[in-house]
Amino acid sequence: MHRFGILGTGRIGQMHAGLVAQQPDATVSWCYDVDPVRAAATAEMVGARPAEHVDDVLADDSVDAVLIASPTNTHVELILRSAAAGKPILCEKPIDVDLAKVEQCRLALAIYDVPVQLGFNRRFDPSHRGVHDAVRAGQIGALELLIITSRDPGPPPPRAILEACGGLFRDTTIHDFDMARFVLEDEPVEVYAMASNLVDPVFAALNDVDTAVVVMRTASGALCHINNSRRTNYGYDQRVEAFGADGLVRSNNLRRSEVTRYDAGATAAREPLLHFFIERYRDAYEAEIRDFIDCLRTGRPPSVTFEDGRRALILAEAALQSVRENRAVTIQYDAAVAA
Ligand SMILES: NC(=O)c1ccc[n+]([C@@H]2O[C@H](COP(=O)([O-])OP(=O)(O)OC[C@H]3O[C@@H](n4cnc5c(N)ncnc54)[C@H](O)[C@@H]3O)[C@@H](O)[C@H]2O)c1
Repeated sequence: MHRFGILGTGRIGQMHAGLVAQQPDATVSWCYDVDPVRAAATAEMVGARPAEHVDDVLADDSVDAVLIASPTNTHVELILRSAAAGKPILCEKPIDVDLAKVEQCRLALAIYDVPVQLGFNRRFDPSHRGVHDAVRAGQIGALELLIITSRDPGPPPPRAILEACGGLFRDTTIHDFDMARFVLEDEPVEVYAMASNLVDPVFAALNDVDTAVVVMRTASGALCHINNSRRTNYGYDQRVEAFGADGLVRSNNLRRSEVTRYDAGATAAREPLLHFFIERYRDAYEAEIRDFIDCLRTGRPPSVTFEDGRRALILAEAALQSVRENRAVTIQYDAAVAA
């Protein structure tokens, strides 16, 4: 039995705790949150103990792993404290919004022999993974174009969450940068981005954007297009399409059922799309946890790494720089920042 401590029990932490508790070979021992009411509520839900302090979790020798689901600006501190306590880590994305802090964390982590898995759950989505697998199997020949559509359902998340998240590119598009790196056959080396405020004034008030298009080129010349919006009125729009010399492979949106209705007002009317990430990616979050448990069980390294988190953040920073300077930005992964 693998015993987990959950650090942060908000929207996603509560969901992760529930999924861990459902696994036949895992259990939640502790739930910690700076808000004790939230920690207690999730602890009760999964039959764990609420922790008053993070050290209650980290000093407990019976805890096998921690799952960090606190706000982004707390990840680096919690990663390093958990690593110092020898606890394997599954940490939500992004590592941080500050590349310099991520670099310091990377160097500090080097002295610990502790696995760190990054929460890029979309890699575990069966449909998106199907696109990846088809590309790797050569089913569409050489990949030439990758198109990633990623639009959130409105209305915007609560202002407090937006204030803490680091903006569209670092918080949301980061999933798409990782998906691009997952599917593309080589690394993006050039990024161009345009962004606008078309959806809700709250984003402009926070010096953020709500609508964006990113174009990337890999060393071999394959092109990737990512488009984002913070608002749809038809649910969570998550599609990945890979086009190659020998065909196309596409991951479509999901619905509760595949029933199609025809009547006087519409033809081929279908169920609404699954609403947002908790519903759309439920299977992916569970597969992510299963993959992490497999690392704990076998001792193999995580399949989604700290370096994946660092590289996706480098692409996000490059997109921000491109918007600011209205030019294509060249990527140098070995330098801490894009040039
Ligand atoms: N992979 C995904 O699909 C996905 C989806 C949503 C959020 N996230 C990530 O998960 C993290 C949390 O996001 P959320 O939407 O659940 O936020 P949230 O605000 O709903 O929850 C965060 C929780 O952490 C608690 N907290 C604050 N400081 C803490 C600390 N130092 N230690 C422990 N707990 C602390 C808060 O009280 C709150 O309960 C963010 O990094 C976000 O980017 C990932």
